[in-house]
Amino acid sequence: MLEGWCTTCLLALVLVGQSRPSEPPHAAVVWAVDALEVVAAFDQPLDPKTPGSLVGQAISYDDLQGQAKSSPRKLRIAAARLEDDGHTLILVTDPHPRNTLYHPPIPGAGSYSLSGVQADWGEPDDLPENPRWSLWLPTLDLDEALRDVKRSRRHASLRERLARPGRLTLATLVTLPVGQATLHLETTGSIEDALLGDTQADPITDGKTPRHALDLAAESRGEPLYLSITIKTGATKTPFDLHASLSQKGAPTQAISANQLLLPWAPARGTTSSPPATTPTLEGGDADRGRTLFFGDQAKCSQCHAHGGKGGAVGPDLTRPRVLDRAWIYQSIATPSAQIEPEFTTYTVALKDGQVHSGVVRALDAASIQVVDSNAHPAVIKRDQIVRLQPSATSIMPVGLAAALGDPAIRDLIAFLMAR
Ligand code: HEC
Repeated sequence: MLEGWCTTCLLALVLVGQSRPSEPPHAAVVWAVDALEVVAAFDQPLDPKTPGSLVGQAISYDDLQGQAKSSPRKLRIAAARLEDDGHTLILVTDPHPRNTLYHPPIPGAGSYSLSGVQADWGEPDDLPENPRWSLWLPTLDLDEALRDVKRSRRHASLRERLARPGRLTLATLVTLPVGQATLHLETTGSIEDALLGDTQADPITDGKTPRHALDLAAESRGEPLYLSITIKTGATKTPFDLHASLSQKGAPTQAISANQLLLPWAPARGTTSSPPATTPTLEGGDADRGRTLFFGDQAKCSQCHAHGGKGGAVGPDLTRPRVLDRAWIYQSIATPSAQIEPEFTTYTVALKDGQVHSGVVRALDAASIQVVDSNAHPAVIKRDQIVRLQPSATSIMPVGLAAALGDPAIRDLIAFLMAR
């Protein structure tokens, strides 16, 4: 075996192979701009062929903690492009359904979550509807945030912008410890407006120092609270800074950690679940009649679900149900919103012209998405027409199917879905 090769030579070859002279580009930071777009900032320019090779690939993501792992969860990449001389990669994707870890299929890029702060900056005379300069920050503390993103080209001009006259708005969902807590902000800019949960705060200025401070008190039940702060920039010669800390009665002041901050558009955890319907007897049933029902016009299951390669792709493929259990299948039909698979989250999509669509969202291409409603009707929507995209706690699977079809028909459907 291995004739003509000595062990040392093999070892030398392995070592040569390991020490490559040039390191591949490394992503300094990866973040989601909104539900449908991801940015990866690299320390070196990427190969111009990279975006093309990513289209059609998927970003996989983890289940929530404590939830059993079932089918792999994925977002499709519908389009990709490079900006900032190849240093910034932008991916257009299916919507991000929850705050968990996402793993993009990009060499050199780590995982990302939906934590962070959305920072918008505009000149004083920018109209609110004008495109402003929008950026992601990992924390509320400016020095710390800029340290974390120092290799990102996207963030390079932030300090310079904050020295110019303008208005900086920070928005995030902050999770405070349970009980009475106070969020303390200090900045060299003047605070124009601040909101935490339902509390609007009046800035305190002591008049002596160029610093402005603000305390925002809230009673927290551990749920994410909406925090928004508007600060005037460039009004003084002092370089702009911002610090945030947290204090609780009887406890020392602490910094706010990145995992307490969630992007303002991120779906907050935990959808409300309706109580399970009482389960009728589910044994028996006729699989052939069930098949006819499944593909028929009355139950309309196949408009949204495929079975054996036939049917729609709006809901999960039911050729092999995820859980092969009669009671589970019954509950999925009777109370569709009780346990929604993240890939099939329903979104409410509000458009600039006032229209509102509701349904399962899929990325089509760089410019548009598809929204499929509860009648399995697909609507194509231009991304630039979207004002708001918000996850909803209800499924698009029609409610009342179980009652409308009646127990015998449901038994037949279940027999069909259980049949191997
Ligand atoms: C308008 C589209 C639509 C119709 C019609 C529809 N479903 Fe669904 N169904 C969905 C969606 C979307 C989901 C995933 C979200 C959820 O769990 O509600 C789903 C989930 C399910 C699940 C759970 C699957 C899983 O892996 O979580 C089952 C079982 C199911 N449907 C059965 C049926 C049956 C049987 C019918 C016909 C009587 C039917 N559905 C009709 C859209 C539909």
